[in-house]
Formats: sequence, structure tokens, C-alpha cells
Amino acid sequence: MRMYDIIEKKKHGGELCRDEIYEMIKLYTEDKIPDYQMSSLLMAIYFKGMTPEETSNLTDAMATSGDTVDLSMFGDRSVDKHSTGGVGDKTTLIVTPIVSAAGGIVAKMSGRGLGHTGGTVDKLESFPGFKTSLSPSEFKNQVSEIGIAVIGQSANLAPADKKLYALRDVTATVDSIPLIASSIMSKKLAAGTHSIVLDVKCGSGAFMQTPEKARELALAMVKIGKLRGRKTAALITNMDIPLGHAIGNALEVKEAIEVLRGKGPDDLREVCLALSSVMIELSCKLTQGEAEKLARETLESGKAYTQFIRWIEKQGGDVSYVENPEKFGKSKFIKEVYAEKDGYILSCNAERIGIAAVSLGAGRATKDDTIDFKAGIIMDKKPGDKISRGDVIAILHTDRENALAEAENIILSAIKISDVKTDSGKMIYDTVR
Ligand code: URA
Repeated sequence: MRMYDIIEKKKHGGELCRDEIYEMIKLYTEDKIPDYQMSSLLMAIYFKGMTPEETSNLTDAMATSGDTVDLSMFGDRSVDKHSTGGVGDKTTLIVTPIVSAAGGIVAKMSGRGLGHTGGTVDKLESFPGFKTSLSPSEFKNQVSEIGIAVIGQSANLAPADKKLYALRDVTATVDSIPLIASSIMSKKLAAGTHSIVLDVKCGSGAFMQTPEKARELALAMVKIGKLRGRKTAALITNMDIPLGHAIGNALEVKEAIEVLRGKGPDDLREVCLALSSVMIELSCKLTQGEAEKLARETLESGKAYTQFIRWIEKQGGDVSYVENPEKFGKSKFIKEVYAEKDGYILSCNAERIGIAAVSLGAGRATKDDTIDFKAGIIMDKKPGDKISRGDVIAILHTDRENALAEAENIILSAIKISDVKTDSGKMIYDTVR
């Protein structure tokens, strides 16, 4: 195999065969193909695309480039969920206990915050003592015992994707549907569950800014899942606005606990129930209607809340924080942001609000930054809400006094207020099966 020939073939829109793709990924992982040649191929893929067969082979080649998790002992009941990343997205904290309390097996690897988006691993680490790293046998034993475990991604999971992603990041080739789809699905295939439910976020806070693009990505990932023998479905959900009210790790955990206790914001509950239903449908082999009913009953009966407590305790987290969320503590500075005029909320740019939360300490500006778990924002208003000048539209939480003014400006510029009545918009755009 000559890398030159592969680049030349793709440059003319040709289809790479299975052996070419596997060999190339193997050699690249072993540092035997230079980055300049791989960059050239990535750019050719960006412009010429890939067929479903090529994308599926690329995904599997990356998935098998490192460790893979064997969950065959759970038969076809194991299920994973993946979100393409958002602001205020604490759905994993709510969905995984609902699904496991309903009888599904949730064995999941999650990520940390990236850029303006948050990550489940950071949120879980808000609980003192919570272990996000378990050995493979500890992970499987916990899943066998209580039906749920969520850990950070193992270092050697899909190393080819890690290398390629870093290269894409600096060669302007991130936003290619086959490359995004294969990157995400390679990690999901390696993580080993029989079923996969994808939450493809769409809007100002997401990779995919329009429902059409989000649908294209969802279809590409569902197709890969099917070609690789996994039951796969995708929901396309609204990320034009932050999900729920809370943005920032401990603030989001507290909001997730509220939902599990039967309260919390409607938009968050709606998205969580929709994701849980599809996961239950696939893992428990129920009809759509049966799964929706079971998801709702499991949440409303408190079974999911009980399961959440079991899960946090089992992974070493201090469960007294679940019963007394005020134990998460308060930031030194808590500042209200006021509406500058009367009207109706038209939009809240999720990306800008995510950036403001990072500046308050809720995320990392550089890889080595530490997170302030208490920091973040409570966004009380949503599109469609009527407001008057001087109403509180957001509350900032931080220990960084000098970050307050800039965060306030970002929030004020991120929220658009209309003189005429607006509507709240949809939370779920589509489901792709
Ligand atoms: N997330 C990933 O894991 N990969 C991409 O390419 C984009 C988002």
C-alpha cells in the first residue's frame, strides 16, 4: 500500500477498499505514515466524502486500533448513549439511572468538558470520592451487580481516532460528516455495548448548526451502527439554548437531582424521557409506546432516584450530597444579571453562554486548568418568556471576582429580546432509527 496512491484515488473521488483503510489506519497509529500525508488525505475526504461502506470500515479500523471492551456477558441488553456535546447537558446523570432502573444495562464511558461544552466525567467528580476510573473487571462487576457504571474513557480506547482528531483540529478538517461520524462511532463500537443511542445536538451551542446537517450526521452514524451489527438510533435535539437552567458542574448535578426527585425544568425532563425511552426500547425489546410508559413510570415512582443513589455510592461518591445538595457549597461571588429592556426572550446563544461559564471557572481554558465545581450560571429565562426591564435573567456563580463583568457582558449580548411575542420552540426535532 502506498499512501500516495490512496491520496490520489480519493482526490479523484474514488472509493477506498477495506484493506486500504485498515492498513492505512494501522500504519498511521504506529507512526509509519507522516502527518503531512494523512492531512492531505483528510482534506481529500473533506471535499470528496466517503461512501457508507468506506465510513463503516474507517470506523471499525479506528475502533479496533486499541483496547475494546467485551460486554458479551450482558447479551443484547447493554446500551450506551452519546451526546455530540452541548451546554447544560446533564442528561446522562438522569437517563442512565432511569434506564438501568427500568431493566437496561448501562455500561458507559464518558468524556470531560471540551471548549464551551461540559462533560459528564467532570460533573460526576463534583461528588467527593466519586471514582471515574475503574479497572475493566471492576467496571464489569459493578455493571453485573447494579446494572450501571459510568467511567472516563480508557487511555487506549481508539488511539487512531485520538491521533486523527488532533490532526483534524489543526488542519481545518473537523467539520466533515464522515469524519465526525466515524470518530464518534469508533469510540462507541470500542466501548462494546449492543445498542447505541445518539443525542445529536443541533443549534448555536452544537457542532451541527441546522436540523438538516444534524440529520445528515445522525443518518451517517445510525448507518455505521447498523453496518457494524449494533442496534443504533439517534435523536436530534435542540441546542440553540442551554438545556435546563443550570450550566456548570455542581449546579448541573443539583438540577439533575431535582429532575430525579420529580421536579426540575420541563425541557430537560422532556429530552431525558425521550432518550431514556429509546434506550429502554432497544435494550429491553419493548415497543415505542411501552418503553415511553416505562421510562415515565420509572422516573415518577422514584425508582430512578433510588438507582442514582446506589450508583453514586457504589462508585465511591459521598451520597450525603444527594440528600443535601447544599453540601456542594456556594461560590464566593453570586451576581444577578438584569434584563435591560421589556419584551419576550427570543434566543439565548448557547455557545456564548457556555463560554461565559468557562470564564467563571466551570470549564478549562487550557488542558491543564482545574475546574471549580461550584462555578457556573443559572439561566432562569427561556425563549417565549415575557420579561420586564430589571428582571433577573441569569445568576453568575464564581470565586473569580475579576471574571464577573466580562461574563455579564457575554450573557447580555447572548440573549436577544423581542418586542413581539415569541415562542419556546421545539426540544426534539426528529428521531432516526
Ligand atoms: N466528537 C468526536 O468525538 N469526534 C468528532 O469528530 C467530533 C465530535
